[in-house]
Amino acid sequence: MKLGRLNHVGVAVPDMDAAIAFWRDTMGATQVCEPFDMPEQGVTVCFIDTPNGGTQVELLAPLSDQSPVSSFLAKNPLGGQHHLCFEVPDIASARSEFEAMDKRILGPTRIGAHGTPIFFVHPKDMGGILTEIMETPKASH
Ligand code: CO
Repeated sequence: MKLGRLNHVGVAVPDMDAAIAFWRDTMGATQVCEPFDMPEQGVTVCFIDTPNGGTQVELLAPLSDQSPVSSFLAKNPLGGQHHLCFEVPDIASARSEFEAMDKRILGPTRIGAHGTPIFFVHPKDMGGILTEIMETPKASH
């Protein structure tokens, strides 16, 4: 495994509009993407950019009670840090390497919110951190 850039920090939020207002007004974010739904993941997503191509904050709100974010919010009603996402150059070899280390991977490799392949590794095998592994976008900044 070759650790790459910290692409984003996933943050679960109970109210997307309120969360965007917080990041704009309290934290001074100037680059906030238009929220979009990812029905197959059960979430609405909004990326907050930090300057100079820095790590993003990925706001995640549940689309339904079935959403994995719903159970997180049941335990953390204010929302909070949900996952870390690191880039790797090659998603298939990263997956093989995690499997070889007996890390539990949650579901198939799929296309994530950045349009590149991703998978998640179980927090119980990752020091308590739900970890998203994402292939570096080809036309990355
Ligand atoms: Co993510």
